[in-house]
Amino acid sequence: MSTAAPAEWWRTAVIYQIYPRSFSDASGDGIGDLAGITSRLNDLAALGVDAIWLSPFYTSPQKDAGYDVADFTDVDPLFGTLADFDEMVARAHELGLRVIVDIVPNHSSDQHAWFKAALAAGEGSPERARYVFRDGRGEAGELPPNNWHSVFGGPAWTRSVNADGTPGQWFLHLFDSTQPDFDWTNPEVLEEFDRVLRFWLDRGADGFRVDVAHGLIKADGLPDFTFDDDANSMGGTEGPQSPYFGLEGVHDIWRRWRRVVDEYEGDRVLAAEAWVLPLSKMAKWVRSDEMHQAFNFAYLETDWKAADLRGVIDESLEEFGKVGAPSTWVLSNHDVVRHASRLALSAENPQGHGIGPKSLGLPDPVLGLRRGRAASALMLSLPGSAYVYQGEELGLPEAIDIPDEARQDPTWFRTEGERYGRDGCRVPLPWSADAPAYGFNTTGDTWLPQPAEWAGLARDVQLDDPSSTLNLYGRALRLRRELGLAEGEVEWIDGVPEGALAFRTGGIEVWAAVDPGVEVPLPDGEVLLASAPVTDTIPADTTVWLRR
Ligand code: GLC
Repeated sequence: MSTAAPAEWWRTAVIYQIYPRSFSDASGDGIGDLAGITSRLNDLAALGVDAIWLSPFYTSPQKDAGYDVADFTDVDPLFGTLADFDEMVARAHELGLRVIVDIVPNHSSDQHAWFKAALAAGEGSPERARYVFRDGRGEAGELPPNNWHSVFGGPAWTRSVNADGTPGQWFLHLFDSTQPDFDWTNPEVLEEFDRVLRFWLDRGADGFRVDVAHGLIKADGLPDFTFDDDANSMGGTEGPQSPYFGLEGVHDIWRRWRRVVDEYEGDRVLAAEAWVLPLSKMAKWVRSDEMHQAFNFAYLETDWKAADLRGVIDESLEEFGKVGAPSTWVLSNHDVVRHASRLALSAENPQGHGIGPKSLGLPDPVLGLRRGRAASALMLSLPGSAYVYQGEELGLPEAIDIPDEARQDPTWFRTEGERYGRDGCRVPLPWSADAPAYGFNTTGDTWLPQPAEWAGLARDVQLDDPSSTLNLYGRALRLRRELGLAEGEVEWIDGVPEGALAFRTGGIEVWAAVDPGVEVPLPDGEVLLASAPVTDTIPADTTVWLRR
């Protein structure tokens, strides 16, 4: 692998998301860890990705799988130690892989020292002013201060208890009640996060994936707002301005962070998780003095329909291009139904709701994998930077049949089982078909059960099968690099059958037969990559890369 770092590596990078709980478990306790990650970095380098992004491994009571952080500058013993982190970074850098860590600025855990101090210090104290405490409504303050809902269901407020046991003020939590929101108008909060950024940059992190980067600032007076609960739970829908997502004030914070990151050598980056639409609005997060990248959730949420895909690809290139940022492309992550299942769902399934045994419109697994592979082959041909979520290179489907009693996502509890939530995309990875826990560890314990059919999807089985999804990804990533596709430009080929897409980029043609039943005559040329077998036609749900 070439270690020569091109300028602004992030413009073209393929970034692999590691979900530490479920990647590889060296300790054998059923939850993945940093030592497990280090031991498998070879495999990721061999796959051909440029960087890894790790979901949180910080000190945390794990009420939201680590997105409830009790100490932003330490490693939870569940995942190892700071020394394990250093070792992981050193190994990654040796292999030419950059390391991006997650930062969670909207909220802390209720076990964070600051929140404990806020509860102890009482009303009106400077300790409370780091969070959003308010008096309740109603005669005795028995009603929440406003009508906001938590992203995970139920009210966004919880009433605190005073030192003498009487009911006290309420605190805001856009997520679980164990995740109190910070007050980002308080300079102490700003300074503390500068420190956190520097802590990880000093330790060699190449950048940050910024959690809920459309949150943080709330509208003055915290006005009531009725959010459509059937919509994307993170707010990623066009609609009236929310008083807590996508406010202009957040941009000052990102400018400040950019200045901190720019103090460091080596092209360190900020990547926004900002569920805001339309893309012209999301692009504000990546103006030249703010972040470097934003996850393209508009692309992720696009149905598997040729016309829609063409539309979102054009819009992405145009809107990110206008602010001088690369477009990104993403199909899966730890919050959404895996795309090898999602693309074959036949009922509406808003982000965050998840699927389980009783969901409507459950996917046909064969169709799902076929579409998933076609979608991945299309995504990896596009110019800019792409995100790959662990397991998608194995074609893993969403785990649907997780028993109720094994579920862990706070969404499941806060909606009393009405929404399954996100456990189905977080199941520990299968590495070896014949080992305990399919090679995730040596003890066989896993924090979520692995489906029996995953033996057939294990990495070792796929390595030996030229037609496997793993080899499809490997080939796509190699060709992407060799052909310079990430620096390419999409030039649409007109006159293709309705329901199909075709474009030129990087000296090749990419053809995708997308809509149901569409068949495209295979153009002359050398097939470099095909997501499914082709004859003299490209059948539906197939993407082909061609040299003509
Ligand atoms: C982000 C994370 C998600 C988490 C939430 C609260 O959306 O991706 O997993 O639950 O923020 O931190």
